[in-house]
Amino acid sequence: MSGTGEDSTKRLGIKASGHPMDPRTQELVAHFQQAYGSAPERAVRAPGRVNLIGEHTDYNHGFCLPMAIERDVRIVLRRRPGRSVRVTSVQQPGVVEFSLDARPIPKATAKDQRWADYVKGCAQVLRDEAGIELVGCDLAVTGDVPLGSGLSSSAALEVATIHALLAAASVGMEGERIAQFGQRAENAYVGTNCGILDQLSSACGVLGQAMLMDCRTLQLTPAPLPAGVAVVIADTGKRRGLVDSAYNERRAQCEAGAKSLGVSHLRDVTLHGLRTAVASGKLPAAAARRCEHVIAENGRTQAAFACLRAGDAEALGQLMDQSHDDLRQKFEVTCAELDDMVAIARALPGCLGSRMTGAGFGGCTVSLVREPQVAAFVTALTAGYRAAHPAMTPAVYVTKAAAGAGTLAL
Ligand code: GLA
Repeated sequence: MSGTGEDSTKRLGIKASGHPMDPRTQELVAHFQQAYGSAPERAVRAPGRVNLIGEHTDYNHGFCLPMAIERDVRIVLRRRPGRSVRVTSVQQPGVVEFSLDARPIPKATAKDQRWADYVKGCAQVLRDEAGIELVGCDLAVTGDVPLGSGLSSSAALEVATIHALLAAASVGMEGERIAQFGQRAENAYVGTNCGILDQLSSACGVLGQAMLMDCRTLQLTPAPLPAGVAVVIADTGKRRGLVDSAYNERRAQCEAGAKSLGVSHLRDVTLHGLRTAVASGKLPAAAARRCEHVIAENGRTQAAFACLRAGDAEALGQLMDQSHDDLRQKFEVTCAELDDMVAIARALPGCLGSRMTGAGFGGCTVSLVREPQVAAFVTALTAGYRAAHPAMTPAVYVTKAAAGAGTLAL
């Protein structure tokens, strides 16, 4: 009889477990087969993240309140003989190949292969810093975290890559270390001086929960979102242009501020301490404004976590508003598109709070919205933003808190 057994199972995209394979994984498996001529053996995934509050605090050893989102990077893989890694993406042309014996592993020369530098950076860091015996493998990648929009598409690629390379080598590693090596790949290989927020959220996210992240100890304390409210992400469509230089400049200003205040990180300064230092001329007013945001934001983030614990969505929303206002006036990392998206959101029924999320200078906002009003909120926010910025293409996503990175069944 035709139409039964393994063939039809594959044709219909049915997993061995009997459940239909999700269409994105199905497409990825087909892409792998087409690129390499065989079926993948394993699959892994790592989500993007949205930060509810606690912005530009991670590299100051402070607090953040992120959650992993329902958009992710997936990688399917198969071991191969020899010492090379091949990687292809559903979203990018071609196959990139590099040797695990190259020291250093050379970066891309072609612009359209730069995405693979995140993969190479992870391989190099795992080999040279973690001392892992990596093995040759073929990888295929797919992702639906929008690129350059502040939802951590790069961290998701790094964390998924580390999971994939470790799976090929049959090595286990804790999520916290995976996050640290992902961050190292970005800092040391790709060259962006980011903190730990993105990678730790992707590696260690908890299904249905936001997490208070202590960026000094890396301790994560989960707490669910208050009942009856939804998290709505709105992409302004503005891609972060000069983000690296402006980001690195803010970071340097914070580090210089900490030095003038006699501490290693701004985490250790109170607002009172800051004001005293300014009054005695230890810190110029411009530098003090940057520090003031960070110090106040650490307090707001801890207060926001207390709101989660108490189920107080209204107070949480107010803290989110204050966070954005400081990021705009004192830290100066917003832009017209972010400020307008936030202003439009705040004026809509059911919106409890709205702010930019991620590094800033473009990308996304995050709003807390009462569930019954979510559908109308999404429509009105999109229309309002389109009217204000006709040249931009906004995208609005309602998301729940997703689980952190791990394996996927094939
Ligand atoms: C980017 C960085 C993070 C963090 C945020 C700002 O997402 O990658 O480390 O600094 O900006 O909070």
